[in-house]
Amino acid sequence: MPYEPKLGMSIEDLDTPALLLDLDAFEHNIATMSRFFAERPAALRPHAKTHKCPRIALRQIEAGAIGITCAKVGEAEVLARAGIRDILIANQVVGPIKIDRLTDLALDCDVMVAVDDPANVDALSEGCRSKGASLRVLVEVDIGMERCGVLPGVPALELAQHISESPYLQFTGLMGYEGHLVTVPDPRDRATRVREAMALLERTVGLLHSHGLPVQIVSGGGTGTYDVTGALPFVTEVQAGSYVLMDSTYAQIRPEFEPSLTVLSTVISRPAPDRAIVDAGMKAMSKEFGIPQPLGLPGAATLSLSEEHARLSLGEASPARVRPGDRVRFLPSHCCTTVNLYDTLHVVQRGRLVDFWPVAARGRGQ
Ligand SMILES: Cc1ncc(COP(=O)(O)O)c(C=O)c1O
Repeated sequence: MPYEPKLGMSIEDLDTPALLLDLDAFEHNIATMSRFFAERPAALRPHAKTHKCPRIALRQIEAGAIGITCAKVGEAEVLARAGIRDILIANQVVGPIKIDRLTDLALDCDVMVAVDDPANVDALSEGCRSKGASLRVLVEVDIGMERCGVLPGVPALELAQHISESPYLQFTGLMGYEGHLVTVPDPRDRATRVREAMALLERTVGLLHSHGLPVQIVSGGGTGTYDVTGALPFVTEVQAGSYVLMDSTYAQIRPEFEPSLTVLSTVISRPAPDRAIVDAGMKAMSKEFGIPQPLGLPGAATLSLSEEHARLSLGEASPARVRPGDRVRFLPSHCCTTVNLYDTLHVVQRGRLVDFWPVAARGRGQ
């Protein structure tokens, strides 16, 4: 009989490498974030680049999120097809191929896009004119990350004025992502620096108001900063993404959320008494935020990842417990890039498989 995972089976019987989502931890994270925003004027618009999974996006909306954020047109297309109506592409959409797709999407659902360049605004406007579409547009302001975005103040005002002159675009507000601060280790230091960065956005909102431009949306924030950014009175939306899955990087910063994502692997070799090799390497878990470590093996550590293997030193872990064929779970160090390696999330509860959720926007990087 060919292998086919069945609902109800033990995770020990799953083939590997497999990506597991612990349903109870996932629901804890959804509930924790919902409670935070239930009491505040700002709303949650979770970033779907983390999970790329329409089932998760729909659950986030069911739990109170006002819409979804994504990074790419390809992700937005998948989410729109799954029935999500209100989507922010928190990124610049540049060039005729993508503007063609974006304007098609705008005919189908309510889509917003970030801009930081007047020529891009003109191209979006022309794209909308030719299709009879209309787009909501946010000016991205660089509040210190030095990635995309115009400078706060007059440059942002001038771009907003330029957008508001287009009959096909609606100037809707500002986006400022404080991504350079989301993993500042000390919470007080992080909060102070986030407030300073976001003050640049607040002053820009004031400048736009004083020039008669209404700012309906002010969007920013990530998992590391949601509590500070989401409590600022001028912020209307927060784009946190990782909170729902978590990883070892954010676990240091955000103990209120539980790691719900793990990678299940199999020991394929015990070449030395203190060494085990498993079948999950770089093609099964990303390592740009550090090498993922094994769970439930005290004293064991991952020495290195190659394409298809991880090398573990066993330390105090009883060698008898680690035989070829045994399962080893890893906590990813970066959930977003790990999910993008898989087609399916195996949803598990108390050690059993309870559902399969397709990572439908996996690899939709265009
Ligand atoms: C534009 C933007 N918004 C929000 C986020 C927040 O994501 P997370 O909550 O995973 O830190 C990111 C992360 O890269 C981002 O690029």
